[in-house]
Amino acid sequence: MTRMLPEIHRQPIDTEAAINYAKNNSRQHLNELKAFLRIQSISTLPENRADIDEAAAWLANKLESIGMDNVEIISTNGHPLLYADWLRYGDEAPTLLLYGHYDVQPVDPLDLWDRPPFEPEEEGDYLYARGVSDDKGQLHILIRGLESYLQGIGRLPLNIKVLLEGEEETDGESLAEYVPDNVKRLKADAALISDTAMHGKNQPSIVYGLRGICYVLLDLVGPARDLHSGSYGGAIDNPLNVLGHIIAKLKDEEGRILIPGFYDNVRALNPEERRFNERVPVDQQAWLKQTGAPKLWGEPGYSLIERIGTRPTLDVNGIIGGYTAPGTKTVLPSKAHAKISMRLVPDQDPHEIFRLFQDYLGNIAPSTVNVNCTLANASVPSVVNFNTTAMKAASSALEAVFTRKPILSREGGSIPIVGLFEEHMSLNTVLMGFGLPDDRIHSPNERFFIPNFYLGTETVIRFFDLYAKAHQDKVRIT
Ligand code: BES
Ligand code: MN
Ligand code: MN
Repeated sequence: MTRMLPEIHRQPIDTEAAINYAKNNSRQHLNELKAFLRIQSISTLPENRADIDEAAAWLANKLESIGMDNVEIISTNGHPLLYADWLRYGDEAPTLLLYGHYDVQPVDPLDLWDRPPFEPEEEGDYLYARGVSDDKGQLHILIRGLESYLQGIGRLPLNIKVLLEGEEETDGESLAEYVPDNVKRLKADAALISDTAMHGKNQPSIVYGLRGICYVLLDLVGPARDLHSGSYGGAIDNPLNVLGHIIAKLKDEEGRILIPGFYDNVRALNPEERRFNERVPVDQQAWLKQTGAPKLWGEPGYSLIERIGTRPTLDVNGIIGGYTAPGTKTVLPSKAHAKISMRLVPDQDPHEIFRLFQDYLGNIAPSTVNVNCTLANASVPSVVNFNTTAMKAASSALEAVFTRKPILSREGGSIPIVGLFEEHMSLNTVLMGFGLPDDRIHSPNERFFIPNFYLGTETVIRFFDLYAKAHQDKVRIT
């Protein structure tokens, strides 16, 4: 590859000065993050729509104030996207695309929180608030990295584009539409996302695979209204009972999914990857304890790490129906609903899986109730190449800051943009996150380990510089 680099790019960058800026402004940055965390940007609830807009505006203002160019709030049919860039080195210089999400999960059950979820509070080494780990706090780390260069030394070591969304925790539809239409605008050499966790406080980690998702909503209707369960029970079928039967037929007790064809495209684990998985340090008993469940469970023949990162699964996320208020009411309900998610692995396709699900449902559902099934969310699984320049730079940056080589592993969660970047832009993503396994993301009392705000920022600062340099070495200056 022959690329012309502008003169400015060859002048040395004072990384240590940027790091000092981050250090000196730690307290101020933490207070700013608290303001961001107070915005109740829950994406799935319509009543929080104004908060979503407020969070987007807050970010636009922040990106502008630190010196990013072309800051734009992009309106969509759903929640706004945000774009910003800093491309002062010109077209030929390395460009890194940063992604994060400003939306958060709902807070229920609220009574299990020890403090109000949107009133961030420090206790010991932790900061508590909804979204502090997933993903507002981690997005804040990326922005702090940018600010430390721009405000600390007046420039970045490479070109940067920033793309942020507010629908990651729901359907991500706006982004799924935006990416294919804006491939040119988003063009970059690599992407960086901080929205994952490390395997422990002293164990930096890079995630190289994520599961996809196929999320379906099941709606069952039997009688036109709720009926007396004595006068009608036994002669009219009950949609809640039927739902129970349907759910029981989706998966066996050991975790194998019973939908015909479901496993057809699951990529087998090769022996090398299995050995690799064994090296992931996880204390199973500590891991179990942290969940509060009485026992570990899962598909026979697979380790804990493999069950989470490399195997597909199916879970009922919620069931709605019948009488749930205190006391008893004898009723044969008219309706029953379930929210069911299937986590997918390469090379399963979420739309194909949805078709298989529908076919199977057609076979197992009785004609005594009307069953309707809709696709609520489809995201492709991903495994990224970890032999790239960007991955190597990330690994060196983590090692420099945490004084330990990062562990590579696949994770069970989903970040839909990773698959979109790969599919539409052939763009490789580095998933370098600074959360911890017990941050309780999506759960009550979500928290973040405060020292990682600073360590994460320092890592991001070093990564920008190392990646720029690694690129430069590859590039012949003509
Ligand atoms: N940051 C998480 C994904 C994640 C969690 C990655 C844990 C690795 C470890 C992300 O915000 C998330 O929760 N995604 C959703 C996506 C879904 C709504 C399509 C998920 O995985 O449930
Ligand atoms: Mn997230
Ligand atoms: Mn999440």
